[in-house]
Amino acid sequence: MPEPNGIAQAGVPHTNGVNGTKPEDRVAVLKAAAAREESGLSKIELIDDNPFTLFREWHTAALQSNLVLPNALCLSTATKEGRVSSRHVILRRLEDDGFIIMTDRRSKKSAELVRIEGDVVELTEDQYLDLYEREPLFCKVRSHLCHQGVEVDWDDLKKKHDEIVRKVAEGTQTLPCPEHFVAYKLYPTMIEFYYAHDSNIGDRIMFLKKAGGAWEHTRIAA
Ligand SMILES: Cc1cc2nc3c(=O)[nH]c(=O)nc-3n(C[C@H](O)[C@H](O)[C@H](O)COP(=O)(O)O)c2cc1C
Repeated sequence: MPEPNGIAQAGVPHTNGVNGTKPEDRVAVLKAAAAREESGLSKIELIDDNPFTLFREWHTAALQSNLVLPNALCLSTATKEGRVSSRHVILRRLEDDGFIIMTDRRSKKSAELVRIEGDVVELTEDQYLDLYEREPLFCKVRSHLCHQGVEVDWDDLKKKHDEIVRKVAEGTQTLPCPEHFVAYKLYPTMIEFYYAHDSNIGDRIMFLKKAGGAWEHTRIAA
């Protein structure tokens, strides 16, 4: 079988054993590993058939842990041509059937999301205004200051930033939710959970949403 790209190295001899190890030596190496190390199978315990039940359970555990940003998630989008890009965004609200994120509607991800993903819905302002109002000052300043994804001059940006902050402090500028501020709700049709700890092999459960809206799940090998 040919080696995958980047694996075969010129000048490294390819033998039947692992790095030239003879079969009898390999038995000894594995026996020693079995005496020293552990192996097991992790298990995800399901309470019901709804992936949001499990997500809430894990999400609550993350919120109660010492993670710095338990609500950070990786969002991937793709162009029509299939060029994928990923970036982190914050999960602003977890609902019973979807995930709410907020961003700049002029950003790259916004263009790709609404074009490609049928299961992403743009919310109306009244559905996310409370989220905007709860944003810390720097987020409100950013949403007024920044046109996401556009080239900037740092000194110019700093000047404008300080000007906004000064006006806010003296009460001559408010920072209402701008037009380009947008929230999307992602309605998943597939959610996969992966759980592993210590020396246990991971457990995976994949939930798929059926046409009628019911969820089905399958346990899959790690
Ligand atoms: C931890 C973390 C959280 C972030 N949260 C958000 C967010 O909630 N919304 C957002 O628009 N960008 C957020 N960003 C910035 C994005 O990762 C990204 O740089 C930006 O949205 C531009 O993405 P795009 O040009 O691919 O559309 C966050 C970055 C980090 C590191």
